[in-house]
Amino acid sequence: MAMCTQVRLVMAQIGEAAAAGAAADMSDPARHVHQRPGLPRRDGQVLPERGPEQAAPGACRRHLAAAGRFQRRGVLPVLGSIRRAQQDGSREIGEVEAEWDHLLDRLIQDHERNSDPRDKDADFTHVLLSVRREYGLSREQMKGILIDVFFGGTGTSSSVLDFTMSVLMRRPHMMKKLQAEVDSSIPEGQEAVSEADLTNMTYLRAVVKESLRLHPVAPLLPHFSMARCSVDGYTIPAGVRVLINSLAIGRDARYWEGAEEFIPERFIGHGSAAHVSFKGNDFQFLPFGSGRRMCAGVNFGIASVELMLANLVHRFDWELPVGKKRCDIDMSEVFGLVVNRKSKLVLVPKLRV
Ligand code: HEM
Repeated sequence: MAMCTQVRLVMAQIGEAAAAGAAADMSDPARHVHQRPGLPRRDGQVLPERGPEQAAPGACRRHLAAAGRFQRRGVLPVLGSIRRAQQDGSREIGEVEAEWDHLLDRLIQDHERNSDPRDKDADFTHVLLSVRREYGLSREQMKGILIDVFFGGTGTSSSVLDFTMSVLMRRPHMMKKLQAEVDSSIPEGQEAVSEADLTNMTYLRAVVKESLRLHPVAPLLPHFSMARCSVDGYTIPAGVRVLINSLAIGRDARYWEGAEEFIPERFIGHGSAAHVSFKGNDFQFLPFGSGRRMCAGVNFGIASVELMLANLVHRFDWELPVGKKRCDIDMSEVFGLVVNRKSKLVLVPKLRV
């Protein structure tokens, strides 16, 4: 329900830009493609203007950026050995942690005041409060769960969508092929694409998978080795932090034909990766990680990206602003725990249906 409402909202906003012949900043619709635990109401209504929920995504972004910088010091110990850098990193993390503590206290208090989960305004935080006693959850544990969902849902799906639209804008023949598939999968004249319509869209699925392979938005997976093991001739002792580089794995020529090329067809029919899934058992493709700490929102994340993408290409043709060329779309990234493209994607929508 909330997902369809988000899509409707975004399509309406872009529709206005299309009617005015204006350009749309695609990072705006992309930002709608995530769930925020305090935000979506049961009736899918638009949210109040101010409150801890509105501040949380900003806090997430600051935290992810700071944690990314901190993690980089872990990856390059030479940076960590510089005392000043270490102190700055710890202070930055400490500041965002304090910000979180304050935000989550306010969020929980606000919801405690109106704690009936049957209320039409109820959201994820209300539901959590309603099962608090049953599961013996302390306030700190509730904050932990909320923070996990805020983090997981903030910036991941939106970044996947942004990378995918950018890739398609650079490859117009693929955009046309995708539009043809979406058009032919829904009844003629139907404006919106629903979740049920996605079932037969094999090319759309393959485009999103290929985008995740080349541009995993969480490229370094921090895990912990539980037992001593050997990987590629290297011994990994038990009890150490291991960073799995899913970006490098996804571009490894030993496992991928034309590893640097964007070829969605590899995931379809008799393609070389047709059997490869992102569910964590195919270790050459780990956009959602693997094992016990694998993404908890994989189904929701992938469905929201696919649904938004299908609607964007079905409802609109996309052009570049005057004077811009396809090759101007810069794919370089800003590093953080969640990776984003460095520059904004600004496109001119033209209404199709
Ligand atoms: C397409 C969008 C998304 C991508 C690419 C993605 C990717 C990931 C990755 C790579 C991890 C780390 C897995 C590991 O270390 O093995 C992760 C963890 C997680 N994700 Fe996602 N995610 C997405 C969307 C979401 C959404 C929408 C939610 C929740 C609403 C979510 C919730 C979580 C949580 C709670 C964890 C931590 C799991 C744990 O540590 O046990 N994710 N995600």
